[in-house]
Amino acid sequence: MSSPLADPLFPAHLAEMIRRADHALQDSAFEALVFAAGTAPMQFADDQPYPFKASAHFRAWAPLTEAPGSCVMHRPGHRPTLFFCQPEDFWHQVPARPQQPWVDCFDVVCIKTPADIAGFLPAHSAWIGPDSDAPVSHRAVCNPASVVARLDYARAIKTDYEIHCLEVASQIACAGHRAAQQTWAEGGSEYDIHLAYLKATEHEDAQLPYANIIALNEAASVLHYTYRRRQPLEVRRSLLIDAGATYSGYGSDITRTYSAMTGVFADLTSAVERLELTLCDLVTPGRSYIDIQLAAHRGIATILCDSGLVRVSAEDALARGITAVFFPHGIGHLLGLQVHDVGGRMANEEGVLTPRPPGHPYLRLTRRLEAGYVVTIEPGLYFIDLLLKAARLDERRDAINWETVDALAPFGGIRIEDNVVAGSQGAKNLTRLAFA
Ligand code: GLY
Ligand code: MN
Ligand code: MN
Repeated sequence: MSSPLADPLFPAHLAEMIRRADHALQDSAFEALVFAAGTAPMQFADDQPYPFKASAHFRAWAPLTEAPGSCVMHRPGHRPTLFFCQPEDFWHQVPARPQQPWVDCFDVVCIKTPADIAGFLPAHSAWIGPDSDAPVSHRAVCNPASVVARLDYARAIKTDYEIHCLEVASQIACAGHRAAQQTWAEGGSEYDIHLAYLKATEHEDAQLPYANIIALNEAASVLHYTYRRRQPLEVRRSLLIDAGATYSGYGSDITRTYSAMTGVFADLTSAVERLELTLCDLVTPGRSYIDIQLAAHRGIATILCDSGLVRVSAEDALARGITAVFFPHGIGHLLGLQVHDVGGRMANEEGVLTPRPPGHPYLRLTRRLEAGYVVTIEPGLYFIDLLLKAARLDERRDAINWETVDALAPFGGIRIEDNVVAGSQGAKNLTRLAFA
């Protein structure tokens, strides 16, 4: 942790994690919860591991991203214990025992192998983490559903410490986005832009919260385009970059779209950005996120109509499902320790799900916002061959202006995405603050 603001916020964050864990244990037979970081899984029939990623449950307690085999144990009424794994190993770098101020909130026990934890666990403890890393004695009580549901449900409300980490994650990503835009303006390839992003954020690939989406021209129509062409393209039309950064285990998720020329695509991009900003203002406590999804579709319908992409009224475009041809994904999701943070569709802490509204099959968040939720807002407008082909073949055909579609398809598409806190004083846009 290097932000001077994070350290003073950590004790209150940990107290909230303790409160949530106590609540999750209520009515259960467990004496303790063990949050395991996990270990790096090995590739099939190989002696090489996949990159290690500490589990989100562990990172919620300890800001340690490089601690394979470590765990945090919580027993009601006791200080949490950090079991820090320091293998005796001359092949690999052994992690140094953490020294930062947050460590004072824990009792620390150094262990030499992940299996050593077994000797410290109360008989009735629940293991929260990868099943394959649990000591044999605890395989039967891995990730009990009722405990995990309570923890996941509670995670939607971020502590002040978490909001601070997410704000710093937006600031780091902002430096990457600026470098990426510059590299694109100079004619760089998708690969060049990716490298510029990594350098500016001081991230390794494996530290990104998700694989960078860096799409030039028509590739922007692939929603999760993670291919990286190494040759600069002959014609520079557009850049869609969806890229985040991590700070203390928390990730940002930011998208910008740029047009290389003035004209209809640039105007559409500005219109999507104006819509995005109005939707960000809706991120306030008490509002159903489903309402933001519906407002986004109304806004996209108006843009389609105003730009001449459809030959029908905005109301008709909405009623006939034409907005979903151009904007097929959800308006966003919870953000935190995971880019698509858990619990987005939970109706309660028992794990009952709220159904998605009909016609919105990819919406990841259906909850009513409360103060402290952090969400993304990410409207888009794309020219996706697969969806356009289907619309060309059915009753939507006559409603769409195919000449305009064909003229804009080489630009791929548009997405603008910010990270927004539902604050008690209103929406707080962490991303715009970082870019200001
Ligand atoms: N970057 C993935 C998403 O926006 O959800
Ligand atoms: Mn994104
Ligand atoms: Mn997102």
